[in-house]
Amino acid sequence: MEICSVNLDKNSYTMYVGSQILSKIGSLLKENDMGEKALLITCFPIQRLYGEYVESIIRDAGFDLRVIELPDGEGTKDLKVVARLYDEAIEFGCDRNSPVIALGGGVIGDVAGFFAATYLRGIPFVQIPTTLLAQVDSSVGGKVGVNHFKGKNMIGAFYQPKFVLSDIEVLKSLPEREFRSGLAEVIKYGVIWDEELFSILESNINGLSRGELGDSPRIVARCCRIKAAVVEQDERETNLRAILNYGHTVGHSVERASKFARYRHGEAVSIGMVSAALLSERMGLSKGITKRIVNLLHGVGLPLIWDDLEVEEIITGFKYDKKFRDGRIRFILPEAIGKVRMRDDVSESLLKETLETQKNLFAKGGWGW
Ligand SMILES: NC(=O)c1ccc[n+]([C@@H]2O[C@H](COP(=O)([O-])OP(=O)(O)OC[C@H]3O[C@@H](n4cnc5c(N)ncnc54)[C@H](O)[C@@H]3O)[C@@H](O)[C@H]2O)c1
Ligand SMILES: [Zn+2]
Repeated sequence: MEICSVNLDKNSYTMYVGSQILSKIGSLLKENDMGEKALLITCFPIQRLYGEYVESIIRDAGFDLRVIELPDGEGTKDLKVVARLYDEAIEFGCDRNSPVIALGGGVIGDVAGFFAATYLRGIPFVQIPTTLLAQVDSSVGGKVGVNHFKGKNMIGAFYQPKFVLSDIEVLKSLPEREFRSGLAEVIKYGVIWDEELFSILESNINGLSRGELGDSPRIVARCCRIKAAVVEQDERETNLRAILNYGHTVGHSVERASKFARYRHGEAVSIGMVSAALLSERMGLSKGITKRIVNLLHGVGLPLIWDDLEVEEIITGFKYDKKFRDGRIRFILPEAIGKVRMRDDVSESLLKETLETQKNLFAKGGWGW
């Protein structure tokens, strides 16, 4: 089992990453001195696959457990759902020491974490992330929250869990598209921080395209350590944490322009990583890395291009971005594999040209360059 520490003074916590380690949840809860009434928050597909097993282990460890099954999907990140959780917690008699265990992907982690952060001004929170995205990204760093109809993640908090238990075995039941979407974030870590990770992924391109992560606990743990290292230096996203947004500027805009319906988050980020790499080359900050990034993304089956939007629609999407000022927008641009820099001076016209180039290079699978 891999152990990653996230060192944030009194908010420090440990992430356990391994294979077939779900059974450890009971002893870990006990070791962490949690109250005896516990809430397990999950959603139907995960409850059906792993819920009963996890439930039995927690009960066998002596906890009085209530299981709350929420609807599946992004719509669950809603204040009405949080209100229901408050009602259930009060009725069940949860106190300040009652743990909330989130068993699920990023949606369950975000909503359960926001509930845990705000019920009685904060009760112990534990994550058992079940998607690749949740294991390498959303369970690290303490961002929790829900959506407002005006925008995603507009209501939230920074709230660190007591510990995170990531069992890579559960990824085997993940739909292929969800796996690939998480893979985009894994590739992102390679580009922003870790050339060796990027090379490991390159050499395992065939396995990855079949949904196999190779030495998964080590890869997942490696990503967690990178995010932890960034978050440790910048818990509240003032500066360094922004590098985690590589690929996300165009990515968010593509998601927004297609009304969050067509692309999984990682797919949009994949498209955005290509845009940022092309921009970097156009601005003379790097040479030849777009090709490496594109080969890996394409090789694992991630998209390089949008297929249902005009460039103009993506540009309009930026105007809602809080980092858009005076016609200039902030980008995280790769200088080399493993190294990025932040630029605040990307103009709308350069961006437009770059997106047109991206469209011409990669549309209709014509990316033989
Ligand atoms: N807090 C953060 O720092 C942070 C970071 C990135 C993303 N997020 C949030 O995470 C959310 C997306 O998370 P996600 O991609 O995990 O999506 P998700 O939670 O919706 O899960 C995707 C789908 O996979 C299913 N699923 C989950 N685990 C499974 C398993 N092991 N086997 C079979 N099916 C499984 C789910 O039921 C769901 O249908 C978004 O709301 C995003 O805003 C948060
Ligand atoms: Zn992301």
